[in-house]
Amino acid sequence: MKDVYILAIESSCDETSVAVIKNGCKVISNVVLSQMDTHAFYGGVVPEIASRMHIENITVVIDEALTKSGLKMEDIDAIAVTYGPGLLGSLLIGLQAAKTLSYIYNKPLVPVHHIAGHIYANNLEAPLVFPLIALVVSGGHTELVYMKEDYNFEVIGSTLDDAVGEAYDKVARVINLEYPGGPKVDQLAHKGMDTYNLPLPLDDDTYNFSFSGLKSAVINLKHNEEQRGNDLNIENLATSFQNRVVEILTKKTMKALKEYNVKNLIIAGGVSANKGIRDKFNELCIKNNINLTIPKLEYCTDNAAMIGAAGYYAYKIGKRADLDLNAKAVDKLN
Ligand code: KG4
Ligand code: ZN
Repeated sequence: MKDVYILAIESSCDETSVAVIKNGCKVISNVVLSQMDTHAFYGGVVPEIASRMHIENITVVIDEALTKSGLKMEDIDAIAVTYGPGLLGSLLIGLQAAKTLSYIYNKPLVPVHHIAGHIYANNLEAPLVFPLIALVVSGGHTELVYMKEDYNFEVIGSTLDDAVGEAYDKVARVINLEYPGGPKVDQLAHKGMDTYNLPLPLDDDTYNFSFSGLKSAVINLKHNEEQRGNDLNIENLATSFQNRVVEILTKKTMKALKEYNVKNLIIAGGVSANKGIRDKFNELCIKNNINLTIPKLEYCTDNAAMIGAAGYYAYKIGKRADLDLNAKAVDKLN
């Protein structure tokens, strides 16, 4: 069968990224230009600055990804692009670039949902095995997805308020850690002890999550300790917070695997870089005979390689977009 080369573009948040992917599984090139240092100064992503930086960088990143791949535009079979969900202004830049390439070089335009991209980051490790459950944990999403075959997504649960990465970043801010605080809370969590009595969030029978209550409990705890004149032990706080997060994520995911009678679990999204989450899932999956895949760290956070991997399967089932494809800040995965 002829090899299929996808040029993929991702610009949904604060990373400008372009990749060339062969057959949905091999990374030929993947260039990621992160704006993190700029946004860290403001304590979070500033949408206006993010889209302006995407404009400045997108053509340079496309050039570099293509040069590194050793291919020419003529060798590319299709252009895959994240159309949503994400920051509208940021999405529009990648989308406009993809449409322009598609128009000029007469290549099919393949729309990719950002979460499908995170899920397919796992296909860069090993081919997905079905049926599977995907736990997507990122700065914007916390979702449990059932997949019976390629590119068939059934969302069985999602967050009702804050995403898990968002909760990590907000808790980090409360204890004066720089954005993005998730990785820093993770590091601290491995140095402390679980001494603070924080609630297990939305511990019910559904597959939905809620992290705003846990976040508020951390904020209240800080205020109460300050009023009492007590020092907050931030290592112990990080451990207590992370343990509650890991507990609820593992509890609901393991329940879904059992109820859907599934033996394959993949974890995806920026928060899958979390060591506490990785370690606990590794332990539970060995114990319960579940095949677990987690992407390499570089493919956990936003990147275009994952969009190219998902884009290949979308391309194969005939997903195409016209030049009137619009960016969507919010969009259901289906
Ligand atoms: O997937 P991603 O790059 O962007 C979105 O699509 O949202 O995820 C970024 C999120 C941030 O909230 C960041 O703090 C979090 O992932 N994150 C972590 C860790 N590494 C990244 N959260 C907890 N522990 C980590 N090690
Ligand atoms: Zn993401």
